[in-house]
Amino acid sequence: MPNTLKDVSGFPPHGGALELRMANGDEPRELKAMAASLPTVEAKSRRVLSDLELLAIGAVSPNRGFMTQADYNPVVDEMRLANGLPWSLPITLSATDEEAKALEPGKKAAITHEGRTVAIIDVEDVYRYDVRHEAELTYRTTDEKHPGVAYLYEQGSHYVGGEVTVLENIFLSEFANYRLTPVQLRDAIALRGWKTAVAFQTRNPIHRAHEYLTKCALEIVDGLVIHPLVGGTKGDDIPAEVRMQCYEVLMEKYYPPDRVILSVFPAAMRYAGPREAIWHALLRKNYGMTHFIVGRDHAGVGDYYGSYDAQEIFEEFDAAELGIWPLKFEHSFWCNTCEQMASAKTCPHGKEDRVFLSGTQVRQMLTNGEEPPPQFSRPEVARILIDVERAKDNTDNS
Ligand code: ADX
Repeated sequence: MPNTLKDVSGFPPHGGALELRMANGDEPRELKAMAASLPTVEAKSRRVLSDLELLAIGAVSPNRGFMTQADYNPVVDEMRLANGLPWSLPITLSATDEEAKALEPGKKAAITHEGRTVAIIDVEDVYRYDVRHEAELTYRTTDEKHPGVAYLYEQGSHYVGGEVTVLENIFLSEFANYRLTPVQLRDAIALRGWKTAVAFQTRNPIHRAHEYLTKCALEIVDGLVIHPLVGGTKGDDIPAEVRMQCYEVLMEKYYPPDRVILSVFPAAMRYAGPREAIWHALLRKNYGMTHFIVGRDHAGVGDYYGSYDAQEIFEEFDAAELGIWPLKFEHSFWCNTCEQMASAKTCPHGKEDRVFLSGTQVRQMLTNGEEPPPQFSRPEVARILIDVERAKDNTDNS
């Protein structure tokens, strides 16, 4: 893209077209009947099921299936698909030795979940992969304590590449009112007449710093899409149902309804930091966004990434080939002397003036039934989180 906003109009998806892989018409019935005689690969994780949903709705366009080796290798090594388009993380289906033995390139296989066929794959290749190499390049670590790396180490020995046809989206009823597909979100944006729209990725409740980034961004574009990830996070992240309550109360009280859309993002979290920031941005491009917010330690976990690695990685691409513009924000906080949200870029005061609470401190306060200060979190959000902690306590003690 385009260094000017004018050139972004039309919001083209990555690669030019949305690739929708959901079966339609009589296809699901026919393919399900056929599946009975096909070899199977089990969808072994929630992430695979989420990836199927992303493929079904075109969110990972131009990908039409799980990656063949021809795409997988350059994606891991160079962050590019075989056709040269930027792509930062593999989309893979792993198979055990036993499953792999039954597969044949050029034939179909059924992808199953709890005994049901959820998709059909046209098997193109079945290949072994170097798990440590993938971990080192995509996650920048081979440490099994990293949740994304741990996931890799638990996979089957082979990857199965090929286009998929999705028969069933098992998550369809979760947050159904907010589950806009790329086509639907594009329509919603067009309906509002927005020429530019910024996406906000989050896996947390929205606190004041998050709100600040979204509102700064909204000052310079036409519309904001709060696009929380709901497709699977690690156990100690706050569950999506609770977060949705927090987003709803903020939408009601603190965001202008004609300028903001709340819609869920069904991808699973990888915790791949910089590489995931690019992935998050490209998927949002497919949803029709022109801009994407990248703050401090985007998609990070523990101390694996530097605070701004996820911003710097955007420099490795031409803006034109990414086709979505990152809006980069420094670490934001409330400053008691400025009496407003700020960052080191805009505030000259020292640490003693800044309201900063670590995740652990916040969790501790909420567990004790204590509201974090309003400079950190809107009281309405704090109350929801405290109520959830109380309910947990009651269940634990009953
Ligand atoms: S993430 O895994 O989805 O990145 P989170 O929900 O915490 O985690 O962050 C959402 C977005 O807000 C990310 O772009 C992140 O970098 C940014 N962010 C979170 N907190 C801050 C902060 N205090 N200052 C600046 N950016 C922040």
